[in-house]
Amino acid sequence: MNKKTHFSFLILGIISLKLGLFFGLLAGAQYMVPEFLKEIIPFSQMRELHVTMVISWIILTATGCIYYFISIDNKLAFPKLEKAHIIIFGLTGILILISILTNNMGGREYMTYNPLLFFPIIIGWLLFAINYYQTIIKKIVFGPVYLWMWMTGILFMIITYSEAHLWIFSFFKGDVIKDITVQWKSYGGIVGSWNMLIYGTAIYVMSKIKGDDRIAKGKIAFFFYFLGLTNLMFGWAHHTYIIPHKPWIRILAYGISMTEWIILGSMILNWRKSLNQKQKINSPAYKWLLSTDVWIFLNLVLALLISIPTINLFTHGTHITVAHSMGTTIGINSTILIAAIFYIVSKENKFSLNKYKKRLNIAFWLFHISLLVFWGSLLYSGYLKGIWDQMDMPKTSFSEFITDLKPVIHVLVSGGLFLFISIEFITNPLIKALINKSKK
Ligand code: HEM
Repeated sequence: MNKKTHFSFLILGIISLKLGLFFGLLAGAQYMVPEFLKEIIPFSQMRELHVTMVISWIILTATGCIYYFISIDNKLAFPKLEKAHIIIFGLTGILILISILTNNMGGREYMTYNPLLFFPIIIGWLLFAINYYQTIIKKIVFGPVYLWMWMTGILFMIITYSEAHLWIFSFFKGDVIKDITVQWKSYGGIVGSWNMLIYGTAIYVMSKIKGDDRIAKGKIAFFFYFLGLTNLMFGWAHHTYIIPHKPWIRILAYGISMTEWIILGSMILNWRKSLNQKQKINSPAYKWLLSTDVWIFLNLVLALLISIPTINLFTHGTHITVAHSMGTTIGINSTILIAAIFYIVSKENKFSLNKYKKRLNIAFWLFHISLLVFWGSLLYSGYLKGIWDQMDMPKTSFSEFITDLKPVIHVLVSGGLFLFISIEFITNPLIKALINKSKK
């Protein structure tokens, strides 16, 4: 098996993460000093650079893991298409950066880059789909749940990513309700699709560490799959606050996404209980997956609270919503992906990370402590903004409010800085190991 291209996806994913964190820190610095870099890259562009790069980390890394995992037990159907896929995504990534930096944007809230870049991206996904289906087609029917999850994730990514660009047509663009509904429905679908790719990856890594595919074949695993599918299709309802649909639809959508977390969380806990001491010690991926469980729990509590309508009225549009999205993309998605990269690097060479053991252990704790500080200060900053918003007259002025908020923002950005440092410590040995392997 030629693994070079799979590793290239992972390397590109890690580079995107590093870039994304760098832009995130600069955006954080702009919170503290609004004039900072304002003339060169204003906050609106910096935020887009950050969000686009961290989402690229999620997509590229999940894709690299899937190519790698399916190539272990099968012969990849079209290795050349995989190469075309990475070249297209790599070049489009550069064009996206140029598009945002030059403010050549489509005017959406997310995926703001020039809408023409939709075409190379969708071609990349189609190549992935063809390669994936042709490779696993004979195994899928009685196959483990992760094969189903990856297949569904790829298929729905193509559908929902295309849907997210329907706004180009005047039929949608000309009608606010239609436009917002389709926009948020598709964004929810995109998140649901990448969750399918990532949760499938988590189940794959768990079953391989245990050396037993039963966790990926039982009733619970498939119930989890169907729940994820429902969430992917209907979970968007809890994002469309301004659309006049019935509250029960939103509550049901929230309920489904929370049940999904509860099942993933309990699958990780049961898996942990079923491992022997040797399996635990021999796998650096193990503790990252366990830490995912802690963040599932914290995000679950937050999601439960912000889904209560009166609380939601208070939190919507504040940093509490940002805590929800960053808490899940960092605490859940990124910890699973880091676990998967550790699993791959250790599988390739059991000893390659031995000399970094102490450093990786410190970085693990630094990551979680700084994320907790970062996340906690987002919540507190959101709480203060909510209070200010609801405050009876006479209100303190906005500038006074911002001055009062400054200490919280300092803690928030410091948390982000330490998070950045910890991720540098974690990803540098991993990227080195992947580059070394690519050269062989
Ligand atoms: C793996 C690491 C990270 C991931 C996956 C991530 C993800 C995200 C996502 C998805 C958003 C969009 C939030 C929304 O629209 O609700 C966001 C916004 C943001 N992130 Fe991050 N983030 C990461 C690390 C950081 C770090 C280290 C900083 C540094 C301070 C940072 C600063 C920001 C800022 C300033 C925003 C804009 C929030 C706003 O609109 O006011 N992020 N991030």
